[in-house]
Amino acid sequence: SPSDPDLVERARAAKEKLGDKVFVLGHHYQRDEVIQFADVTGDSFKLARDAAARPEAEYIVFCGVHFMAESADILTNDDQKVVLPDLAAGCSMADMATAEQVAECWDVLTEAGVAEQVVPVSYMNSSADIKAFTGRHGGLICTSSNAKRALEWAFEQGDKVLFLPDQHLGRNTAVRDMGMSLEDCVVYNPHKPNGGLTAEELRAAKMILWRGHCSVHGRFSLDSVNDVRERIPGVNVLVHPECRHEVVAAADHVGSTEYIIKALEAAPAGSKWAIGTELNLVRRLANRFAPEGKEVVFLDRTVCFCSTMNRIDLPHLVWALESLAEGKLVNRIQVDRETETYAKLALERMLALP
Ligand code: 13P
Ligand code: SF4
Repeated sequence: SPSDPDLVERARAAKEKLGDKVFVLGHHYQRDEVIQFADVTGDSFKLARDAAARPEAEYIVFCGVHFMAESADILTNDDQKVVLPDLAAGCSMADMATAEQVAECWDVLTEAGVAEQVVPVSYMNSSADIKAFTGRHGGLICTSSNAKRALEWAFEQGDKVLFLPDQHLGRNTAVRDMGMSLEDCVVYNPHKPNGGLTAEELRAAKMILWRGHCSVHGRFSLDSVNDVRERIPGVNVLVHPECRHEVVAAADHVGSTEYIIKALEAAPAGSKWAIGTELNLVRRLANRFAPEGKEVVFLDRTVCFCSTMNRIDLPHLVWALESLAEGKLVNRIQVDRETETYAKLALERMLALP
């Protein structure tokens, strides 16, 4: 949808007034009206790395979701202020693992006598508390673009992984990239006593997967894949690893949002692609690649935006930028020092991966 010209002009003017004082980061799932004002765009990994790239910027405006803004705060200098244009931009997957639940899980692992062998690996899509837990227990963070390397690292430190909070990324990486079997994975359900697992099951498992998922990617099914293959002969199915295992297993290619973009850039003219990820990105790619003769369609027939990513819209961005331009700090995301120390340890282990 075309953006309101008045708001576009206001955003441009406020950004110009702020100059080098502001650095705007935009995740690939952001709306077009927002992404046009991003100084850099990227997947979660690229944005975590790029957040620290402008130490002279007083304000980092994060157009993405809460856990991304927290990570940016952890990785930037103490005097830099991270701003999330709408505080309600959370992530339902990140909310599926709370600090209390994870502490309880660790007690269950301790009682089963396996905690010493377990290395926690937490997906970027988790709160700063969960990242701190991970750092405290010798683990690291991963994103969808480095999950394999993160698991390789973890299995050098111990012989079991507790993977938080996305069971699908954990399972897909273990089975697709690490040669494990589905039987090597068990699912820990925080809503059941002892996670719904016996001590024996915990002892036998290699991967203990937290029972979390992304509701946006969870909507793609094996039917969506079969359906699109029938509809568009010769189509390449490319999905995000947050999709369910049977969807990933049926796809031709799997990767992060940045990977998806690179794959389409490299694709030959005349090729056809069905993409299983958030709709803002898929629509943008469809428009971008149509003139080059590459056909890009959404994997499912029903639309599926990430509603929390979409909360960051042009009115919220304009409000944040204009407030900052007037010297008024709004919607700051600030992680407390103790949490930051351990969360940073886990993030830096990821950034140090080869
Ligand atoms: P990436 O951009 O790292 O692929 O992550 C997708 C996502 O769901 C972020 O919330
Ligand atoms: Fe969270 Fe899924 Fe939205 Fe990503 S797409 S921010 S994992 S709800």
